[in-house]
Amino acid sequence: MKISKLLVKRVKKILNYAYAPYSKIQVGAGLICEGGKIYTGINIENSSYSLTVCAERVALFKALSEGERKFLLLLIYSPQIEFILPCGACLQVLSEFAPELIIATMNKNEEFRFYPLKSLIKKPFRF
Ligand code: THU
Repeated sequence: MKISKLLVKRVKKILNYAYAPYSKIQVGAGLICEGGKIYTGINIENSSYSLTVCAERVALFKALSEGERKFLLLLIYSPQIEFILPCGACLQVLSEFAPELIIATMNKNEEFRFYPLKSLIKKPFRF
């Protein structure tokens, strides 16, 4: 699978805005929507730790709040974690809106690994 240079550039750029004074783990995410538009997100921590929001959900919520509803691929990157993958909470939220999503993760050498969302969360909660 081919990841566009633009997507990588956007994710690396937004990483500068990661707000991670507690964990010092900066995470950036870039979500490609059906029409090709990219929405980016960063992790936003809080001194009340559990209120932290992951980069993946920030990107998804930005897109959803602009009316986007169909999503193709999410790229995630953290310079501190080799091939970072979304946490369980993000997998659950992503699966509600984009069960067919492809998750791409990148390391510092700009190498990629790809996972269908469905392979990372086999049985999301639904009712
Ligand atoms: N984090 C993300 O942004 N995405 C993930 O997939 C996992 C974790 C953030 C949350 C927190 O700010 C930091 O990484 C350490 O857990």
